[in-house]
Order: sequence, then structure tokens, then C-alpha cells
Amino acid sequence: MMDLTVMPKINKAAGMEVSGVVEAVGKNVKKFKPGDEVMAITAGYHGGWVEYVCASVNVTAIKLSILTFEEAATMCLSGISAYGAVNLAKVTKNQNVLVYGASGGVGQYVVQLAKMRGAKVTGVCSTRNLDICRRFGADEVIDYKKEDFSNSGKSYDVVFGINGNNPLWKYKKVLKKAEDISRLAI
Ligand SMILES: NC(=O)c1ccc[n+]([C@@H]2O[C@H](COP(=O)([O-])OP(=O)(O)OC[C@H]3O[C@@H](n4cnc5c(N)ncnc54)[C@H](OP(=O)(O)O)[C@@H]3O)[C@@H](O)[C@H]2O)c1
Repeated sequence: MMDLTVMPKINKAAGMEVSGVVEAVGKNVKKFKPGDEVMAITAGYHGGWVEYVCASVNVTAIKLSILTFEEAATMCLSGISAYGAVNLAKVTKNQNVLVYGASGGVGQYVVQLAKMRGAKVTGVCSTRNLDICRRFGADEVIDYKKEDFSNSGKSYDVVFGINGNNPLWKYKKVLKKAEDISRLAI
């Protein structure tokens, strides 16, 4: 584990997110110590499908003890992407929020984080994932195989379009303040 500026150049392997036990730390690293159970993103430096990785402290976090290593390794990038998007859109209590792609890697976290902030969440996904989406906390669900969300007549304070399946105008159509593009997280 090292400071980003002194990361060594290592041959790239496939894979991106990792979890494991810290073996050694750089001399300036204070946040982690050998033996810590951590999860990290290795993107941009070298891949994660290896026995040992060199991870930057900036993209490493302590693994919660309730998580297995396998669970922790799946959370990093999608969780951070969702967290960044929810912060960017400034989701707050009682807002109506639409999450398109709510059953996916990123969408499931967006739904949960928006609910944690007290928003009313409508999730869009396919028929087979409607129940999962509800379990993540969605108050309402729309099955994109049966209904076009942009024709529902409903509008939302914040819209998350978490895949490339719609043109921008469709999302803008259901945004309460269509001119406030910062409320549209694609
Ligand atoms: N995963 C990450 O860590 C990450 C990080 C940054 C950016 N991204 C980007 O974010 C986007 C989503 O990634 P993801 O990992 O969340 O993908 P994912 O797990 O494959 O989820 C895709 C979502 O889109 C829905 N979907 C699939 N086909 C669709 C269709 N034809 N029409 C409407 N909705 C459809 C899926 O619903 P059903 O499964 O119910 O059909 C699901 O909710 C991608 O563009 C990815 O590059 C991902």
C-alpha cells in the first residue's frame, strides 16, 4: 500500500476491485497496517486478478467485519460511483427520485443511498428484477419491458439514468426543473 505518486509500474492483469489482508505498507502510510482487512480499487495501476496487489491508500478502505472478502470486493467501484452520483445530485428528504437501471450494480446502491437520505424512490428495471428492486427500498417500480417511464405523466426532482438506454431528452422530460441539469445524473 503506497502513496499514489510513488506507485510502481507493474504489468497489468485483468480485474479491478479487490479485497484482502494488508501485507505491507509504504513508510508514509498511517491509515493502514499489516493485518488489516481491506477492500480497494486497483484500476489504472494494475489488475486485481492476482495474488498480491499494490493498492493506493486513496482508493482503499477497511472492510466491514460483517462482509466476506467476496462481498467486499464487489462493492468498491459500483458503490463509489453511486455515492458520488447521489452526492452530486444533492438528494434530500422527500424528493421524488427516479432511478433508471435500479436493479444493476450501480443502481442498487443509488436506490439504497437515496432512501437513506429520505427520498421517495421509483426504480426502473425489467420484470424479473422488480422484487429485488423493491427489496433495495424502492417505493415504486416501473417495468421497462411493459411501460415507458417518460409517458407516465409523473415528474421527479432528481433523475439517475444509469445506462445508455435512453436519449437525454427522455430523462429531461420527466425532470421537474428541466433546466436544472445538475439534477440529472447520467
Ligand atoms: N458497475 C460499476 O462499478 C460501474 C461504475 C461506473 C460506471 N458504470 C457504468 O454504469 C452503467 C451501468 O452499470 P452497472 O454495472 O450498474 O450495469 P448492470 O449491473 O448490468 O445493470 C444494468 C441496469 O440496466 C438495466 N437494463 C439492462 N438492459 C436494459 C434495457 N434494454 N433497457 C432498459 N434498462 C436495461 C438492467 O435492468 P434488468 O437487469 O432488470 O434488465 C439494470 O438495472 C454502465 O454504463 C457502466 O459502464 C458502472
